[in-house]
Amino acid sequence: MVKHNNGRLPNTQDNGPYAHVVGWGMAVPDRILTNQDLEAIVETNDEWIQTRTGIRERRIAGEHESTATLGLKAAQRALEVANILPLELDLIVVATSTPEHIFPSTASLIQDRLGATKAGAFDLSAACAGFVYALNMAAQSIRSGSIQTALVIGAETMSRVLDWQDRGTCILFGDGAGALVLKASDETGGVRSSVLRSDGSGWDLLTIPSVGSRDSNVPEANPDELKMYKMTMNGREVFKFATRVIGESITQALEMAGLQVDDLTLIVPHQANNRIIQAAARSLNVEPAMFMNNIDRYGNTSAASIPIALCEALEGGRIHEGDHIALCGFGGGLAWASIVVTWTGAETGEPRTLGKQRRQLTYLGANWRRRIVRWGRRLDNVANRIHPERGKLSRLRHKFDQQKLD
Ligand code: COA
Repeated sequence: MVKHNNGRLPNTQDNGPYAHVVGWGMAVPDRILTNQDLEAIVETNDEWIQTRTGIRERRIAGEHESTATLGLKAAQRALEVANILPLELDLIVVATSTPEHIFPSTASLIQDRLGATKAGAFDLSAACAGFVYALNMAAQSIRSGSIQTALVIGAETMSRVLDWQDRGTCILFGDGAGALVLKASDETGGVRSSVLRSDGSGWDLLTIPSVGSRDSNVPEANPDELKMYKMTMNGREVFKFATRVIGESITQALEMAGLQVDDLTLIVPHQANNRIIQAAARSLNVEPAMFMNNIDRYGNTSAASIPIALCEALEGGRIHEGDHIALCGFGGGLAWASIVVTWTGAETGEPRTLGKQRRQLTYLGANWRRRIVRWGRRLDNVANRIHPERGKLSRLRHKFDQQKLD
């Protein structure tokens, strides 16, 4: 019988399978928007932005970039480090607030581009807490034994939902993506515990109204006032909320893992504001240096900020085998979440060339597959229109699909 842990999944159980992080990657657009550049857009200045937020510059997606293209790049880099083939993936989760479509999911677009034909794919919406939520979902699927390998991506193009006349928000956010590969193993370690929380009473403190919004359907709605698909925020309230929940939720996740704050070597928080990070350090009674902080170069990239910061912490040699680290996300919802990970790192060391070549071939094959399948559908429609009763191509495609399933 499953033993319950105050209604939460028994994720501190000491038997496997465990969900280990074996790959990581990040991608940010080349275009840099500095605080000085912003001075030409809204009434602000570099000194104000740096003192209140710690941000110096952020990345902005080019016209051919999207949440899916940035997420794909980060994913390919993570697969490289993990040295696995896309075919080995069972699940792809993308945490994002800026998907290309309401549906299909950005995860499905990335699944197709990768050629991960055996993976389920979905997007997860928990704003800036999204990556930690997604990591928890994937880790629990591995812990339950239902899947072996998962790709978790946080990807955003926040620049597309900003109101560039609102100096209270447009100075804060940037674009980018980060990804982790999780793999099942019987060795102890990996994702140890997680705490997910939400308080929807604060829904309007940080929000982006979309087509289904109640406000957009009332007859007196004024589309200009509503600012459909644009972000609005009550900065002071969000600040208070964030400084309250970070310490609290990391402490809860540590308790569930049977650890204390002194056991941690690094905390990777959502990168929202330098002053929020300083306040969180005070509430946990640790040095601010214990927190990974790269907000000066990327601003707030929402669901992407934690995996990007994690990648840079790894590149900077700040995480070693056996380290206990905590990740903490918080934001719109209101939603917040913390996870404790015991780091075991990539098991494969140097990337094997054969794996690299096979991955490149899979990406190439995925491109051709997409074109052929889409052309096949079009031809099928034409054929059906001419000979509705015959539907020969339909039958052929059905046979082909059946063979693939067998
Ligand atoms: N440049 C210059 N002045 C600005 C400004 C800007 N970009 N944005 C606001 N101001 C002004 C305000 O108009 C106000 O002027 P006033 O006193 O004449 O009215 C003054 O600065 C103070 O504004 P306030 O909103 O009280 O500033 P603040 O100290 O709360 O800082 C934030 C604003 C947004 C930086 C801060 O509230 C914050 O970081 N909140 C959390 C936001 C966040 O992290 N959101 C994402 C969570 S996932």
